[in-house]
Amino acid sequence: MPTVLITGASRGIGLEFVRQYAAAGWKVLACCRKPGTATDLNKITGDVTLFALNVDDDANIASLATQLKSMPIDVLINNAGISRPEATTLGQVSSEVWLQVFRTNTIAPLKMAEAFLPNLEAGKEKKLIAITSRLGSIELNEGGRYSYRSSKAALNSAWKSLAGDTAGKGMICVVFHPGWVQTDMGGKAAPVTPPQSVAGMVKLIGGFTRKDNGTFRNFDGETLPW
Ligand SMILES: NC(=O)c1ccc[n+]([C@@H]2O[C@H](COP(=O)([O-])OP(=O)(O)OC[C@H]3O[C@@H](n4cnc5c(N)ncnc54)[C@H](OP(=O)(O)O)[C@@H]3O)[C@@H](O)[C@H]2O)c1
Repeated sequence: MPTVLITGASRGIGLEFVRQYAAAGWKVLACCRKPGTATDLNKITGDVTLFALNVDDDANIASLATQLKSMPIDVLINNAGISRPEATTLGQVSSEVWLQVFRTNTIAPLKMAEAFLPNLEAGKEKKLIAITSRLGSIELNEGGRYSYRSSKAALNSAWKSLAGDTAGKGMICVVFHPGWVQTDMGGKAAPVTPPQSVAGMVKLIGGFTRKDNGTFRNFDGETLPW
């Protein structure tokens, strides 16, 4: 069966990705900061291996890449992300918090892609996925949420560069808006459940071909404006 590596697997959308790929029989490399205390993740059955990974830590990424050296990976899902509401309003923007949001939402996915590119080249599917947000769309931006919006807009830009740079290797690089999803981040009022969001993305990922490289997609398949 194919192999998928997922970041931020402890809860929310990442946890649901682990559930659905494990249920489909995939080999799942589930990465989270504290595997020992990730209760829900530890309950998932199937071919699931847990790894400790703080995506903000370049050395941690490098050491995981060394540990997994020569293991083919079919799909890499950069899901880990943060939203820091206290730094989102005009007049209250904290430089320190903004830099932290950039570190996790923008830089970490690209460092993951760099580190695991050899594994993806060895895999069959060659799919590099990043979970962005429609809040990162410059065209749809109506104001506010400075740190989060800009971190995801920059992630989109980085993924577009990655799509160009790796097209010759046959990679398929896509950024996904998962919907407004009922998680700790999305809150209880969100209209989409994690199973609905993830089922949509898993189905689309399975069908992606090279013509999808460098696209920005909604979880239902719609193409979103940059
Ligand atoms: N929910 C929505 O409505 C929505 C909408 C658009 C986009 N998104 C995006 O979807 C992704 C998942 O969001 P979610 O709703 O599932 O959020 P969530 O419930 O808050 O979960 C966030 C996940 O990211 C992990 N994480 C955060 N910082 C990390 C780090 N430095 N290293 C490793 N893991 C880290 C968390 O791990 P810990 O448990 O260790 O904190 C947790 O597993 C994010 O990229 C988010 O921006 C969500």
